[in-house]
Amino acid sequence: MTAAAAIVGWGTALPDGRVTNADLEARVDTSDEWIVERTGIRERRVVGPGETTASLAVEAATHAIKRAGLTPSDIDLMIVATVTPEQPIPHTGAFVGETLGLRCGSFDMNAACAGFVYELVVGASMLQMGYDHVLIIGAETLSRIIDPEDRTTTVIFGDGAGAAVLAPTRETPGLLAWDLGCDGSAAALLEVRAGGSRLPASAATVEGREHYLKMAGQEVFRRAVRVVVDSASSTLARAGVDASEVAWFVPHQANQRIIDAAGNRLGFESERTLVNIDRVGNTSSASIPLALFEAVDDGRVRDGDLVLCSGFGAGMTWASALLRWGAR
Ligand code: ACO
Repeated sequence: MTAAAAIVGWGTALPDGRVTNADLEARVDTSDEWIVERTGIRERRVVGPGETTASLAVEAATHAIKRAGLTPSDIDLMIVATVTPEQPIPHTGAFVGETLGLRCGSFDMNAACAGFVYELVVGASMLQMGYDHVLIIGAETLSRIIDPEDRTTTVIFGDGAGAAVLAPTRETPGLLAWDLGCDGSAAALLEVRAGGSRLPASAATVEGREHYLKMAGQEVFRRAVRVVVDSASSTLARAGVDASEVAWFVPHQANQRIIDAAGNRLGFESERTLVNIDRVGNTSSASIPLALFEAVDDGRVRDGDLVLCSGFGAGMTWASALLRWGAR
């Protein structure tokens, strides 16, 4: 199964605010040495007053639409992947669409750090339904749901956005194979407990810091390596492509050690693996587009290259997609 879909425009957004490991050393019981050795992260970007998930999404989407040589009125459908929505109701896409001047259909998707790859597959399938241009966005302000006193999460997460315009291809399929999955038995490993129907917001939930992200890091780590390897392997098998034929492996930027462990098992040397976690941290659904589009913009990813994206996150969700970059 392939899809005649390709990324014809792309864009990213990173806030100006930076939090270095030295800044964190001053705030929680941690050290630059521990953070670099255990995660590979040196700094992350964070939003300031007035910046939100939607404002980052709009910036990335504006670049993507322009890069595609289109105007917002050409977009037929927009999907926003995020775990840090603008607010519970309405969906983030409503705010993004209003600023961009869109009146097309839009919806949000929550597949955590696998979100961008999920929307890539869903967006491509909507092209098969007859749409000409689907705008997909992964946008996050994780700094707004991280407990500044929790050293296990505050060192990891950052803010950012990446966007792509998908369009049908005529000559070659742009999306060669994919794999989507979710194992809900791992739901409690990574969660924001309060604020939904299970545990509505109350003074007690605020007091208990239950609106912050909680993570069982070690167990997430263990499962992450396994699901990335399994999902990426089955995607390659479905396409009948060997890892040696893939020009670029684009893993979710969760932890340098997860990237290295999964890459080693799959047969991707560091030279073929796109990494920016040292500079942006873990940006959840923005992580794969930020890493990929940076490498497209600086000329590392070229037309014809096979690119394997693989993400995993809360749920536990996972998603992989094999693309031919520049497919027409
Ligand atoms: N600085 C210093 N020490 C720390 C820090 C810190 N920031 N954080 C934890 N430690 C300590 C722990 O308390 C523990 O101390 P102890 O041995 O005295 O109890 C020790 O370091 C080891 O802790 P571990 O949790 O075993 O450390 P680990 O090597 O597993 O690294 C980390 C922790 C970085 C969180 C890692 O487990 C990880 O990256 N997990 C995966 C997270 C992930 O991928 N999330 C992705 C999904 S994101 C999404 O879906 C939104």
